[in-house]
Amino acid sequence: MHLQADQVQLWLIDLDQAPEPFDALLQDDERERAARFIRRQHQDRFRVGRGALRAVLGGYLGQEARFVRFAYGAHGKPALAEGTDLRFNLSHSDRWAMLGVVRGVDIGVDIEAIRDLADLDAVARRTFTARENRELDALPAGFRTRGFYACWTRKEAMVKAAGVGLAFELDWCEVAVDPTMDCLDVKVGGSSQIAGQYRLWCLEPVAGLPAAVAIRSNPAESGSSSLRLCSRIFRVAF
Ligand SMILES: CC(C)(COP(=O)(O)OP(=O)(O)OC[C@H]1O[C@@H](n2cnc3c(N)ncnc32)[C@H](O)[C@@H]1OP(=O)(O)O)[C@@H](O)C(=O)NCCC(=O)NCCS
Repeated sequence: MHLQADQVQLWLIDLDQAPEPFDALLQDDERERAARFIRRQHQDRFRVGRGALRAVLGGYLGQEARFVRFAYGAHGKPALAEGTDLRFNLSHSDRWAMLGVVRGVDIGVDIEAIRDLADLDAVARRTFTARENRELDALPAGFRTRGFYACWTRKEAMVKAAGVGLAFELDWCEVAVDPTMDCLDVKVGGSSQIAGQYRLWCLEPVAGLPAAVAIRSNPAESGSSSLRLCSRIFRVAF
């Protein structure tokens, strides 16, 4: 598999497919992790997701999937352990997982299957900044749920690109809420853990599954703005 330096490639994985072909790709600790899920459906989805992650990354590296080795950042962000400029991030929601792959810059991916949230306002007040809440409140009623998920996935993709989890208050990643935007740039200062120039792409790979992909480059570089999102979304199936 070939990934150019100016490309971000996305893979969509249907987790509700037969897990058996993916099993042979897993390591023992991953099988143990799968077994810890209480529901069989969640066990199988994890096996498919992790196996597909290995298969795709092995393809880029020209390496057998089961021998791909991971390392983990301070807040649990997985990365490739071997000396490579390949970076990835994965998100799952319901029956889907999305994987983003890029070279040399930090990447974060978030997908969220839309469901009706009775406590949408309360969650927004708790999680979004004052400006994000004002923008959400200003949306026509029919756009509020979409706006909520747009804001959520964009912020989460930035959090995942930085790899900081909840170590920082979520106001450092303030984004536009308008759900019709498909690309935005956000500049962040402050601590080196979060600072940088972020480019966000917003898409809906499957109806009802909003997604955001964030790339972070150093503010001194123009890296993220010269990247283009691969228009084709690859599907993983055996
Ligand atoms: C992992 C985390 C970063 C995202 O979790 P999530 O949204 O529940 O789950 P997702 O499916 O999108 O992502 C999980 C994947 O991200 C990756 N991941 C794990 N830790 C990560 C980190 N610190 N940074 C980036 N990616 C991480 C892993 O590949 C993981 O997959 P796995 O469980 O199969 O190993 C979570 O720890 C977190 O802190 N989330 C912030 C939650 C929040 O309140 N967000 C508000 C957004 S407005």
